[in-house]
Amino acid sequence: MNYIGSKYSLLKEIEAVLDKNHVPADSIALDLFAGTAAVAQFLKLRGHITYANDWQYYSYVTSVAFIEHNAFPTFDTLLADTFWKKRIESASSEKRIFTYSINNRTSLPDNMPCAQVLSYLDQLPGQRGLFYEAYCSGGNAKRLYYSGDNGLRIQAIRDHIETWNSEGLVTEKEKAWLIACLIEAADRVANTASVYGAHLKHIKRSAQAPLMLVALQPASSPHSPDQHRVFQQDGAKLLERFTPGQLRLIYMDPPYNHRQYAANYHVLETIARWDVNLFEPRGVTGLRNRKEQRSDLCLRSTAEAAFRALFERVNSDYLLFSYNNEGLLSGKKLLELLEEFCTDVRFTEIRFKRFRADINRENRIYKADRTREFLILGKPKK
Ligand SMILES: C[S@@+](CC[C@H](N)C(=O)[O-])C[C@H]1O[C@@H](n2cnc3c(N)ncnc32)[C@H](O)[C@@H]1O
Repeated sequence: MNYIGSKYSLLKEIEAVLDKNHVPADSIALDLFAGTAAVAQFLKLRGHITYANDWQYYSYVTSVAFIEHNAFPTFDTLLADTFWKKRIESASSEKRIFTYSINNRTSLPDNMPCAQVLSYLDQLPGQRGLFYEAYCSGGNAKRLYYSGDNGLRIQAIRDHIETWNSEGLVTEKEKAWLIACLIEAADRVANTASVYGAHLKHIKRSAQAPLMLVALQPASSPHSPDQHRVFQQDGAKLLERFTPGQLRLIYMDPPYNHRQYAANYHVLETIARWDVNLFEPRGVTGLRNRKEQRSDLCLRSTAEAAFRALFERVNSDYLLFSYNNEGLLSGKKLLELLEEFCTDVRFTEIRFKRFRADINRENRIYKADRTREFLILGKPKK
């Protein structure tokens, strides 16, 4: 996913800091502000039992796909149903299904159950519906977040996932995986400059390409899938439930400037929740409810108190904190705060790290191409 603040391109540096400082690759690691789950995937692959959290629902389903699954879902109930099995197996698609994760981008064998299910969804004819009308070219609201063809297909695919789930044919975890695969695919053909704060006035070339579902590849793990957990909560609130020593490591990558994620990714949130019937999309951009998820970390007047509230709740063996030079709080202020709550604080600066949310894609504007990223490791006083 093309995501502001994704740490996909910093994973090597994160690994180096943890290894150099001998942070054991065991016990539980929590990615408190998981976003795309890039770091959560890395922590899981490193060997930790992994917890991931983010209060956005598109992030929750993405983390469920990578973290709560250890392998591709098998869709046992859906494919045991003779009606659906026949339809899914006979759906012809010439397209290959490609995998996607921090370390895996290959094509899947056609006969894998998850590839068959995605291929079936991929060839569904488009249909009109509330999402299409509100956000896509040709819809009543005249918003252009997706081309007409892609909008009709997103509508059909997401409706289908909902129906399968409500009929008990796919489990909650399979449903989350399917939605996450759709979100990744939809983000690749979005008609935006980078985020969903606005759409472009004309459908750009990359948004004219047909939507292609991708298979999110769950991170493998020596621990059973039910030991890994995903939460959708306010970060500070979630920290209250852990006892001292329960967590080996907390990784914190909070929002640190004025950009509110809820507003910048509202279209993905709506595809994930599928709740256009429950709110009135606002104005030219079609924003969701104004009150939704405004983070205190993103406001100059509340940021310091919000960071303090986070740090005073941290009771893991280690805290790894990401920050950059565009933050509302100065690096100096943050270090002071961290030193109040942690001992043995070690600071790594990654100078002029080329900042890419993901692999290059045509026509995407990567705003902060050059930022200074900081990784700060400490031992919480508890
Ligand atoms: C800098 S991004 C994290 C990026 C992530 N490390 C990655 O690699 O994709 C910050 C995340 O914090 C989430 N967030 C903001 N305020 C939050 C809060 N109070 N509680 C939980 N999540 C929050 C946002 O939705 C966003 O996904």
